[in-house]
Amino acid sequence: MAERHNWQLGRDMTYPYDAPLPQKQVAYVFDINKCIECQTCTIACKTCWTSGKGEESMFWNNVETKPYGGYPTGWDLKLLERREPAQWQGEVLKTKTIFEDHGPLDLPTGHLPGTMDYSAVNLGEDDITGTVEQGGHFAGIHPMWMFYLARICNHCTHPACVAACPRQAVYKRDEDGIVLIDQQRCRGYQACVEACPYKKTFFNLVSRTSEKCIGCYPRVEQGEVALCVESCIGKIRMHGFLTTQSEPREDNPLDYIIKIRRLALPLYPQFGTSPNVYYIPPVHVPDGFLEQLFGPQVDQAKTLYRSLKDDKQLLGALLLFGATNRIIEKFKVEGNEVIGWDGKGEEVARVPFTEPTRIRDYYDKQYDVY
Ligand code: SF4
Ligand code: F3S
Repeated sequence: MAERHNWQLGRDMTYPYDAPLPQKQVAYVFDINKCIECQTCTIACKTCWTSGKGEESMFWNNVETKPYGGYPTGWDLKLLERREPAQWQGEVLKTKTIFEDHGPLDLPTGHLPGTMDYSAVNLGEDDITGTVEQGGHFAGIHPMWMFYLARICNHCTHPACVAACPRQAVYKRDEDGIVLIDQQRCRGYQACVEACPYKKTFFNLVSRTSEKCIGCYPRVEQGEVALCVESCIGKIRMHGFLTTQSEPREDNPLDYIIKIRRLALPLYPQFGTSPNVYYIPPVHVPDGFLEQLFGPQVDQAKTLYRSLKDDKQLLGALLLFGATNRIIEKFKVEGNEVIGWDGKGEEVARVPFTEPTRIRDYYDKQYDVY
C-alpha cells in the first residue's frame, strides 16, 4: 500500500498501486448547465470506437438524467448503499475511500453489474423529482428538477481499475495520464469492471476481454481534443491537461477553472480515485443532492458561476469551450477577447466577449431578404 496525497479529499490516503504521477494529466470540464442531452457525443463515440461485435451495450460516453437515471442501471447507488455516507469536515473527507474500506485481497470496494443492468441505456430519461400540477409549468417557478450528467472514463489519477487487475493489464500512460487496457494481456477477469466506481470498463462477451474509453489518444497525440468534446454542439466541454509536476498555472485554462478557482468539481470525490472529469454544478438543483455528488464545494461553485459576468478571467476561460478542435494549453484575456494557444505555442482560438452584431437592412439585396 502506497501513501498518496489526494487533493480532492484534502488529505493523504492509501492506494494499493504505487506509480509516479504522469508528466501531465488529461482532464475535462463539463458545464452541466449547458447540456441538452442531444447525445451527439454518445453517437460520435459509439460510431467511431465501439461499433464492433460484442460492443453493442458498450457506451464509453453516455448522458444520463439525474436523479433517477444511470447506465449501467444503478451504477452509483449500488456502491453508495454498500458504504457509509461521505462525511466532510470543511474540505477534508473524514470517511474512508474505496481503497480504505476494502474487503479481502486489498481489492477496492465495488460491485459487478448484472446483464440486465446493461439492457436499458437511458433508463430514467427526463424523469423529474415529482409531479408538476396542471398548469404549473406556466405559473412560474416550480420545485421539481432534473439535469443531464454526461459521463466518460475519468482517467483517474488513482484508478481503481489499475489497482484491481491481477494481470496488470490496465495501465496509466506517463505522458498524459490516459488509462488503457492492454488487449493482449487481458484475460477477462473483470476485476476492473467490479472495481471501477464509475462503471466505465465494459466486458466484451465476444472477445472475452474488457474494453474502456481510450481518451481518443490517437487524437490527443496530434494535439486534438477527444471526439465527444469536438462533437458537442452545446459546447459544454473543454479538454486539456492539469499540471502535475509543479504548481497549477494561472494561464492553463484547466488548472485555472479546476484548481485555482474551484468552479468545476469532481464526481463522487469520496470514492478516492481522483477522477479527472470536472463538472460545473447545475445552479437550479438543491445543494443537498449536489453535495453528495460533487463534495462540499458546491455552494461556492454555484455562487461563482452566478457572478461570472463580473469575472473576466474566468469567463474568458469558459468562452474557449468548443472554440477549436485543438487542445488549448495556454490562454490569456486581452481587451475584449480571449486567446488560446496549443501545446506548440500556435494561436488556435480567439473569441470576443461580445459578438459584433449587424442589423440587416430590411431590403438588403446582398442577402436577398424581403
Ligand atoms: Fe479506471 Fe473507472 Fe477511473 Fe476510468 S473511471 S480510470 S475505468 S477507475
Ligand atoms: Fe484485468 Fe480487467 Fe482484463 S481485471 S484481466 S483488465 S478484464
